[in-house]
Amino acid sequence: MKILLIGSGGREHALARSLAASPSCDALFIAPGNPGTARHGTNVALDVADHQAVIDFCRVMQVGFVVVGPEAPLVAGLVDDLTTAGIKAFGPSRAAAQLEGSKAFTKDLCAEFNIPTAAYRRFTDAEAAKTYIRNYGVPIVVKADGLAAGKGVVVATSFEEAEAAIDMMIGGGLGAAGAEVVIEAYLEGEEASFFALCDGETAIPFGTAQDHKRVFDGDKGPNTGGMGAYSPAAVLTPELQARVMREIIEPTLAGMRARGTPYTGILYAGLMLTTDGPQLIEYNARLGDPETQVLLPRLQSDLVTALLAACDGALNGLSLHWSDKAALTVVMAAKGYPGAVEKGSEIKGIGRAEELENVIVFHAGTKQDAERILANGGRVLNVTALGTTISEAKARAYEAVSKIDWPEGFCRGDIGWRSVERERG
Ligand code: AMP
Ligand code: GLY
Repeated sequence: MKILLIGSGGREHALARSLAASPSCDALFIAPGNPGTARHGTNVALDVADHQAVIDFCRVMQVGFVVVGPEAPLVAGLVDDLTTAGIKAFGPSRAAAQLEGSKAFTKDLCAEFNIPTAAYRRFTDAEAAKTYIRNYGVPIVVKADGLAAGKGVVVATSFEEAEAAIDMMIGGGLGAAGAEVVIEAYLEGEEASFFALCDGETAIPFGTAQDHKRVFDGDKGPNTGGMGAYSPAAVLTPELQARVMREIIEPTLAGMRARGTPYTGILYAGLMLTTDGPQLIEYNARLGDPETQVLLPRLQSDLVTALLAACDGALNGLSLHWSDKAALTVVMAAKGYPGAVEKGSEIKGIGRAEELENVIVFHAGTKQDAERILANGGRVLNVTALGTTISEAKARAYEAVSKIDWPEGFCRGDIGWRSVERERG
């Protein structure tokens, strides 16, 4: 079978590596891809926002299966258009992707189907929102309803901060995404991510991870797309995972079915582990980046078989095998990230890093220039290692980082600290 993968980041490099390794993958195309994905298939310069162009490409190249990495094409309905054209595609429909695309949609679903999440109210009027907050108190969380590239959530510890967030969002600072806000109760606890593979009816666990969203060591500085991650997340014990499936994932699937928009694809639950049990912070309608870079290297089952089973409604009875090993990835970013960065600096030593056993360097934002690899974005490389424990994976990943010669880049030095402390006991 010929497969087309949509996307261009580190997540897609990890997906490309696992898809290409499948015995059922005869050819892999990646649109637009990056120099890392090019090692596992053929990058194609398709405009993925042009759904007809994607459909035409699939017809001409006889692509039988499309896997969508990022959220934007899902929310734009790429899977719907491919399916209508008779091309099998992995990922939720536009209507089902609202679980990521609209926080208000997800909160209403949680309320209707009794899924544990922070208490909330929806507002389109700034004054009404402010009055509510004055009566409620702080800390409180203000969220833009729509997709806002990580800028849509403000955890406010003062009224001034909360009101500024409301003015910014409802005032148009995030475009249409902020026209409506969700105001919700502040939850206390440790955060962890849980992934489920869903076929509309059945969900099966697809691993756990924890990431580091802040840019600097000690979880300081502004939020980013993620500076590193590790899997598994030991804090999500088997008992807690069973509870997440029962109290959060399964009712969500049932609710989406009841609404006539069954959920197919990866459901990525951001959780707060509170003293009252796991609570849903948010859903993503796709795999995480950089979480995929630690999940897929641990997956021992065939990825193509699993994703096809999800599309075909055939997950019931399927079980996936995971390595006992832990995986940890360190994001190397261009200096200045998450703010403006310079592109074009040369990165040396990737090959030396990859000579280490159990190390994979995923490309996230790079560009090939003849023999040279250049930085081409904010998050540039994801240096990933496997180990018997998170501590061992961490030591190996940082050894690999030390082989990479890139003065214009930086990384956090403490990825995995929570798990390392836990392993020390
Ligand atoms: P989200 O984009 O909804 O995942 O929110 C981004 C981050 O904001 C989360 O990873 C949490 O660290 C924090 N956050 C979101 N909602 C809450 C909440 N209700 N209570 C505490 N922290 C939250
Ligand atoms: N690493 C967080 C995300 O993929 O949304």
